Amino acid sequence: MPQRKPLIAGNWKMFKTGPEANATARHLAKLVGDDATVDIMIAPPFTALSAVSGVIEDTPIALGAQNLYWEAEGAFTGEISPGMLKAAGCTYALIGHSERRQYFGESDDGVHRKTQAALESAIIPVVCIGETESEREAGETFSVLDKQIRLGLEGVSLRGPRDLVVAYEPVWAIGTGKTATKDQAQEAHAFIREKLAKVLSSDLALGIRILYGGSVKPDNVKELMAMPDIDGALVGGASLKPEIFAEIIHFGA
Ligand code: 13P
Repeated sequence: MPQRKPLIAGNWKMFKTGPEANATARHLAKLVGDDATVDIMIAPPFTALSAVSGVIEDTPIALGAQNLYWEAEGAFTGEISPGMLKAAGCTYALIGHSERRQYFGESDDGVHRKTQAALESAIIPVVCIGETESEREAGETFSVLDKQIRLGLEGVSLRGPRDLVVAYEPVWAIGTGKTATKDQAQEAHAFIREKLAKVLSSDLALGIRILYGGSVKPDNVKELMAMPDIDGALVGGASLKPEIFAEIIHFGA
């Protein structure tokens, strides 16, 4: 059984100016110290990347972006390339977040292109998948996940399992306070790992980290993290406050 080091990631969404993000990252870095028992990532808005990168440079906290475009450069007004993110200090990038799928027309094909482009620039894609409430109610959870994995990830070139992270975020659990139960989450994660084995390879699937996202808080992170196929958390609201996010990071203490 390969070691999958937990990853606790914060998605700051469209919150925080540069100065606000700088102050939050500074505070978080103090609370985390040099504790490297889990991998840690924060994804501020693009305009705050440079305000955060210097602050976390010599800390265990890595920088992530919330999106990217698949071309290296060109006439694509408003877009940011993987190479630009790398140069801004990013290690990770979220791809295909449900809010992007819902409000900005992100498709599985776009997720595939973005994932491949990120990999080519040595950015670790955190590919987000998950079903909506009506899809779950209609019994379509697994077919939705199957399609998102096949269309989003089939054929992408990984050198090893640490090159890719998948985040399972049931849309009905995002920002609603309704967390998936640990058993619902484990069931979905086990299914995702099985599909990754088919679409990529069994060796890769065993080592790829699958994060759970959707109303993760200090009081539910521990039971989620105890499940065999849950390798970390992608945290929205609770990652905006350093004290609370640090509590989540220290779930094992
Ligand atoms: P919340 O933790 O606010 O539910 O958001 C989850 C999320 O969308 C992280 O990407």
